[in-house]
Amino acid sequence: MEQSLLLTLFSILIAVLGSTRIQFVATHQESGDWHCEVDEESRVSAEFKPGVVTLDGHGDDWENIDGFEFSLLPALDPDHDHEYKQGKMTVKALHDGKDVYFLLQVDGEYVYKKGNDKNCPSVALMFQVGESATYHSMGGCKQSPDACNKKTCRGHEVDIMHFSIGNAIPGRLYGGNPVDNRDGNGGDRFGHLVDLYAWSPHCLNLDGVSPKGNDTSAQNDWRGAWWHSSFTTHSGYSEEDSPYSTKGQKGTFYFEFSRPLRTMDRLQQDVQFTIGQMSKFSAAFWYPEDGNAWHGSGHYTISCDWVPLDVPPGSSVGAKVVSRSSWDAISGGFAFLLSIVSFGVTIFIGYWVHKKDVTSFQRIGG
Ligand SMILES: *[C@@H]1O[C@H](CO)[C@@H](O)[C@H](O)[C@H]1NC(C)=O
Repeated sequence: MEQSLLLTLFSILIAVLGSTRIQFVATHQESGDWHCEVDEESRVSAEFKPGVVTLDGHGDDWENIDGFEFSLLPALDPDHDHEYKQGKMTVKALHDGKDVYFLLQVDGEYVYKKGNDKNCPSVALMFQVGESATYHSMGGCKQSPDACNKKTCRGHEVDIMHFSIGNAIPGRLYGGNPVDNRDGNGGDRFGHLVDLYAWSPHCLNLDGVSPKGNDTSAQNDWRGAWWHSSFTTHSGYSEEDSPYSTKGQKGTFYFEFSRPLRTMDRLQQDVQFTIGQMSKFSAAFWYPEDGNAWHGSGHYTISCDWVPLDVPPGSSVGAKVVSRSSWDAISGGFAFLLSIVSFGVTIFIGYWVHKKDVTSFQRIGG
């Protein structure tokens, strides 16, 4: 009896899973030769963990945070035969109620050429902003480069953070800074950790910059730092220490970022995170293979479609509020009881002093 019930449930489950898979394949057949097989398990959760990580590029303070490990496949042809060979990318995220933090961790032999971004590893994050923005084709607006604008591509906006480390000293903070933010765009002239938006790969601009003129209300809202596990100095690098480690050293690259959950964007160029809601994102990685400079489109990504990113509320907050309010009730009760007791004691002492030795105070005072 029980067994047959289980079997029935199991077959219903199989049927449901089967039908979603068929649907999935069908939608991708419609979109031509683009082939994408998503790992439906993949999902990143930015748990509420305030005061755990420092934005310094180091990964050790993330050790107890759960991450998700992704294969890195070529973005334009997500084929396992052409996977990034040196390892996977681990993505970790958390939030502290004000900012959201990301750690991208990739195994890779050390390679760095100062001043030359394309001969150094590089990473990017991309988020869905407009409801119609697809992962494939960076928003998927079909307009030509001279026809894409905020009206013709409305709803296809994606938000992009790109960090190219050729001028970024490891462990130092880059991204939004007063000099570039005064100009009102998403640039970063110091470390090239830039805040961009796009409707498609050929309609990609810094926040605030557009083909039809600039809007100087934009900002670079990202901050970040990078590190490699082969580095031995922990007291702080400066530019003269470049290339910071020796070429070909085995190890792990770390890229750490943060951004406020909400920004002052008024142009539909920034993703806005809401506690308790899901966002959609992806992460990309460029690596100068065999010492060759990479190309903009020659990157690996963690998935061939959006990856869900949860920003859950702090579960401990609810519990604390409850316990605090009950403690308030208890301590309130105590205060009332104490005030009655002390009132009684006051009356008694007053009576006792009055009756027993009225003049003793006068004697001490005199
Ligand atoms: C817009 O900003 C970009 C980047 O700062 C700059 O290169 C461009 O000249 C500006 N365009 C206009 C029309 O001001």
